[in-house]
Amino acid sequence: MREELTALRDEALHAIAKAKDLPSLEQVRVTFVGRAGRLTQLGEQMRHLPKEDRPEIGKLLHDVRTAVAASLDARTTQLQAEAEEAELSQVDPTLPGVAQATGSLHPLQFLQRRAVEIFRRMGFALAEGPEIETEWHCFDALNTPPDHPARNEQDTFYLPDGRLLRTHTSSVQIRAMEGQKPPVRIIAPGAAYRRDEVDATHLAQFTQMEGLYVDEGVTLADLKGTLEYFFRELFGSDTKVRFRPHFFPFTEPSYEIDVRAAALGGGERWLELAGCGMVDPAVFEQVNDRRGDRAFDPHKISGFAFGFGLERLAMILYGVPDIRMFVENDQRFLSQFMP
Ligand code: PHE
Repeated sequence: MREELTALRDEALHAIAKAKDLPSLEQVRVTFVGRAGRLTQLGEQMRHLPKEDRPEIGKLLHDVRTAVAASLDARTTQLQAEAEEAELSQVDPTLPGVAQATGSLHPLQFLQRRAVEIFRRMGFALAEGPEIETEWHCFDALNTPPDHPARNEQDTFYLPDGRLLRTHTSSVQIRAMEGQKPPVRIIAPGAAYRRDEVDATHLAQFTQMEGLYVDEGVTLADLKGTLEYFFRELFGSDTKVRFRPHFFPFTEPSYEIDVRAAALGGGERWLELAGCGMVDPAVFEQVNDRRGDRAFDPHKISGFAFGFGLERLAMILYGVPDIRMFVENDQRFLSQFMP
């Protein structure tokens, strides 16, 4: 039996060495050491041996099994490596890669973030309000009488239940004061809607940015300083800002803000960019009535508010000739704003 064992070992080792791939190696394993394999069967004949021969043959059997198993393992590793190598050799790592198109911020988003960041530095907190708004928040609380043209059905999108798509972000002023006591210092970017005929300078939906600062002793000088700082940060230190008297129902006095800067088309012209003013006491009283307290007592506190359209700002800053380009999703347009 000893000869049989060593012969079988040699035969197995030879077969393992000759196996040319993993499936044929598996075949060899089954043939020799599988459950009905030849080495397994030979092992079962041990019990027919005379007792005194068993230790020696047993040890030999063990050694043969170990040698065959080790050889199988080694050959498996080798064949796996060869298979991998063969697969990789099909790949040419020197070929150029496939470039992935990376997205970028929409120019309006980019500008909005820049603007918010500047106001944050001055202590303004980001605020939000609903785009579907009540008439009260959009108009009445802002001292805008029922016969004001902005409330005309021809100018505003009304819902059947009487609510409307806010025509400006000034409604967020009211929401902010309903929700907190002075000091209030917020910046509120967001969508606004008007029933405008769509053309190169008008969209039915556009983006505004609203600011409100209410505290004891807030003056027109604070308003001017804040907006001058903002526009200089945005357009450069050569920026000139002019406050031109105007009218808004919810501020008194009110101004339109004109800006001149080299970044804005050469700086020869004054460009009207924003509306602003000192919060009208009537607005504070509306808020007090709604709150049921005197947190916004106009004899104790004062405030300023301002608002501007981001599309108009972006058009001037980036030289965009048509406002519709912002909503057409044309890659040729958008990719020009990649950082
Ligand atoms: N809400 C005004 C508009 O849409 C802008 C504005 C905001 C004016 C705040 C004054 C104060 O035209």
